[in-house]
Amino acid sequence: MDFYSTTKETAGIELGVYMCGIIAILSSKPVTGRLVEGLSRLEYRGYDSAGVATVHENTIFRKRAEGKLQSLKNLLQEEPISGKLGIGHTRWATHGSATKRNAHPHKTDRVAVVHNGIIENYQLLKNELVNSGVQFQSDTDTEVVVHLIDQALQSGKTPEIAVTETLKKLEGAFALAIIFKENSNLLIGARKGSPLVLGIGENELFLGSDAWALAPWTQKICYLEEGDIVIMKHDIAFDYVILNEDGQPVTRSVRQLEQEVNVASKGGYSHFMLKEIFEQPKTLANTISSLIDEKNLKSLINLPIDFSNERLTLRLVACGTSYYASLTAKYWFEKYARILCEVDLASEFRYRDPVLGRNDICIFISQSGETSDTLAALNLAKSRGCETLAIVNVPESSMIRAADHHILTLAGPEIGVASTKAFSAQLAVLCLLALDIASKRKTIDDATMKEFLHELLEVPNLVAKVLQDVSVFDQLGLRLSCSRDVLFIGRGTNYPIALEGALKLKELTYIHAEAYAAGELKHGPIALVDKLTPLIAIAPKDSWFEKTASNIQEVASRGAPIIVLTDDANFNMSSSEFHKILLPTSSPFSACFIYTVAVQCVAYYTALHKGTDVDQPRNLAKSVTVE
Ligand code: G6P
Repeated sequence: MDFYSTTKETAGIELGVYMCGIIAILSSKPVTGRLVEGLSRLEYRGYDSAGVATVHENTIFRKRAEGKLQSLKNLLQEEPISGKLGIGHTRWATHGSATKRNAHPHKTDRVAVVHNGIIENYQLLKNELVNSGVQFQSDTDTEVVVHLIDQALQSGKTPEIAVTETLKKLEGAFALAIIFKENSNLLIGARKGSPLVLGIGENELFLGSDAWALAPWTQKICYLEEGDIVIMKHDIAFDYVILNEDGQPVTRSVRQLEQEVNVASKGGYSHFMLKEIFEQPKTLANTISSLIDEKNLKSLINLPIDFSNERLTLRLVACGTSYYASLTAKYWFEKYARILCEVDLASEFRYRDPVLGRNDICIFISQSGETSDTLAALNLAKSRGCETLAIVNVPESSMIRAADHHILTLAGPEIGVASTKAFSAQLAVLCLLALDIASKRKTIDDATMKEFLHELLEVPNLVAKVLQDVSVFDQLGLRLSCSRDVLFIGRGTNYPIALEGALKLKELTYIHAEAYAAGELKHGPIALVDKLTPLIAIAPKDSWFEKTASNIQEVASRGAPIIVLTDDANFNMSSSEFHKILLPTSSPFSACFIYTVAVQCVAYYTALHKGTDVDQPRNLAKSVTVE
């Protein structure tokens, strides 16, 4: 069969590979409104389509809508559904179209299911079901789960047995929530490979992809373990039983979480992203002061890791924006702590059979602590006997639980899909970690350490100064919003910040943006330069400034509009297409924070003028829990 004759059916793969968010509520009160509210807290996991189903008067009611959650909200307003038991789903599809037909919940008359993960043997199971006369309503892998349970129910099995028997047939990853037409007081959840938490409320029980989704209603959370099934009932009281992989009842610890419930408000800002950009002076201050004894100017990092080994290699592994934080940190670990530092994309690291030894310490950087590739890379490093450290923003996340050690970035919940305050908090932790190790290895002396820590303590104020007047970014954004391509350059620690600037711009505005190390431009990318391709140069007056200035000249002389972000008030160019944004005077450490906030503002205001969806850019998701 050649490519051109391959159809969806013959290829046999319209595989529903999802990250998705799921929620379920068993209550003595109506649940539909809260299912939708929970989904709005899970939209970071995907927002291609959404749906809810409830059981009411021995009938399963379902509403699904293509597109963002608002479409489902609109639909439910016109066609409300009732019930005190329900499930909900918000979807991000990597394969299979984002249509209503493929939106969850999937159902038969008897059973409805929401699913996060991928059923890898879906095709085989589907063939068997089709041969037995089952008609499929969607192109998803999830639907096989629904039909397998349905068939078992039809043959007289109880819901509990129907589910456990079905789960045994599934290969792959799943978090499932399942409801039954005949049982308006029964909710079953199961997890393998995808996260699922049980929430215990007052006269109600919950399931969610994370504890954050349930935060308005309960902070009593139980993290289900691999292979667990939870059977939740409302008979006389609300009760649940957890069965492990072998079907044995088990006790899992219930934790009382401390969560701010109302943080998911924009607080007067037009977007979450803008709010989060403006929160950075505070989130940086929180993160930095949690790691510095300000009175004695000492690091408070106290990891039980031996960094003294001369042969030590640090391996930093991450995805997306967190990868750029890692790239920045490489400069610090090598320059100050004099440790060889390798930086890897998690998706490459996990599959390239890396050479890992006993002298390696592997550091995993992640906002969510759930990114599938980073988590798999962490498990790989552990299986090879390496010591592991996770730098994560979400407490109680999978990476925190899996790593030997962790440091929290105290950025607080980040809602905007494009990472901002989590990134700057990662930079702060990595910078302090590099200094802490440098001081312990005595590659910097005490006086220098104090000087650097003092500089870091100034960072929140400097960032606040950048944000004092954002009208310059607004004007620049207007101009850039008409561009087709934009180039970024930077040197040293500002090269990864240029990469982050280009990523932010393309994520938010869909404008093609590339970043290069300033010295590399002439080795090829300069061929892209023309009058319509603005160059954004990150050029603090540091030891590389003169060299970057020459690179800027090289581009200007080829007619490109030049935008220079700098703290050098005297820097000037004769070109009429020259625009300078003057930023606060920086030190080697503070520069990357200042310029990070600047490139975030450039991307934000460009998106605003272009009219794109700032908080939920197309095709993206905040937490990527599939590979
Ligand atoms: C997604 C997000 C990015 C993020 C990346 C890594 O792609 O859209 O903003 O940088 O995942 O996420 P993590 O949670 O591991 O930092």
